[in-house]
Amino acid sequence: MQLEDVQRVTVLGAGNMGHGIAEVAALAGYDVSLRDINDELVQNGYDQIEWSLGKLAEKDRIGDDEADAALDRVDAFVDLEDALDGADVVVEVVPEKMAIKKDVYDDVVEYAPDEAVFVTNTSSLSITELSEVTDRPERFCGMHFFNPPVRMDLVEVISGEHSSEETLDLIEGLAESMGKTPVRVRKDSPGFIVNRILVPLMNEAAWIVESGDATMEAVDSTTKFDMGLPMGSFELADQVGIDVGYHVLEYMHEVLGDAYRPCPLLGEKVEAEDLGKKTGKGFYDYE
Ligand code: CAA
Repeated sequence: MQLEDVQRVTVLGAGNMGHGIAEVAALAGYDVSLRDINDELVQNGYDQIEWSLGKLAEKDRIGDDEADAALDRVDAFVDLEDALDGADVVVEVVPEKMAIKKDVYDDVVEYAPDEAVFVTNTSSLSITELSEVTDRPERFCGMHFFNPPVRMDLVEVISGEHSSEETLDLIEGLAESMGKTPVRVRKDSPGFIVNRILVPLMNEAAWIVESGDATMEAVDSTTKFDMGLPMGSFELADQVGIDVGYHVLEYMHEVLGDAYRPCPLLGEKVEAEDLGKKTGKGFYDYE
C-alpha cells in the first residue's frame, strides 16, 4: 500500500490516546473510524475530540471550519466489523496488557480488509510478539504517539522483527502527513526510546517522595523549572495516566531487571484508581 491509498484510519480504543490519535488523523484529512467496546466509552472519546477541537479553535491553533470538518470525518462504532470496514490502516490503542491486545488482534484479523496495515500504539510491549498473532507480521509495526497526541510532535515508528521496510516507510509517511516528526526505532525493546528514559524519571521522582527525601512539590518544581521540562514529573505522570506509566515499568522490570522496580507510591495510586487527569485525581486534583 502507498500513502496515497490511505483514506480511512480505524482507531481501536477511544481512551486518552485513542481519541487523541483519531483527532490527529481527522485533522490531517483522513476518514476515521473510532471504536470502543461499549457506547459510553466510544461516546466519551468522541466528546473528548469535540472538546479538544473546540479548544484548539478557541486558541486559534485551527479555524472553526477546520474543527467542524475534522469532527465530521470521525465515525464512532461499537461493532468491530463495522469499524474495520474499509480500513486502510488500523491503529490499535487498547489497554497496555499483552493478553488484551492479542485477543483484540484475534478478532481484527477476521474482519480487517486483507490489504490493511496494522500498527500498535503500545508504550512498551513487544511489537514482534504482537505481530505474530496476526496474519500479516510484515505489515505490522509500532506507531507510538505521545500524550496529548494533538500537541506532541514526536511519533516513534518501531520495527518488529518481521516489519517490512515498505511498512515502516508508509507509517513514517503517514506520521508526516499528520504533521508529526517520526523517529525510527530499529529494534523492538521495552519502552523503545522515550519511555525507556521518561518512565524511570517518573519512577525515581516517586522513590524520592516515598523515601521522604523531598516533597512532591519540590521534586516537580525542580524538574519543571530547573531541568527545563514542560511539566513536573508528577504532573507528567498525571497527564500520561499513572496506570500507563506503572504498566510500562512493570514490563521493563520484568524484562530488564531490578533497576526498573516500580515505586509503591505509583502502585497505590493505581490501586485507588486515582490515575491522573483522566479520573479527575492523581497526584494532583483536577476537579
Ligand atoms: N487538546 C486541546 N487542548 C488541550 C489539550 C488537548 N488534548 N490538552 C490540553 N489542552 C489545552 C489546555 O486545556 C490549556 O487550555 P486553557 O489554557 O484554556 O486551560 C492549553 O491547552 C494549555 O496549552 P498551552 O500551550 O498554553 O500550555 P503548555 O505550553 O503548557 O502546553 C503541553 C501544554 C503541550 C501539554 C505541555 O505542557 C507539554 O508538552 N507537556 C509535556 C507532555 C509530554 O511530555 N508528553 C509525553 C508523555 S510520554 C507519553 O505520552 C508516552 C507514553 O507512552 C507514556
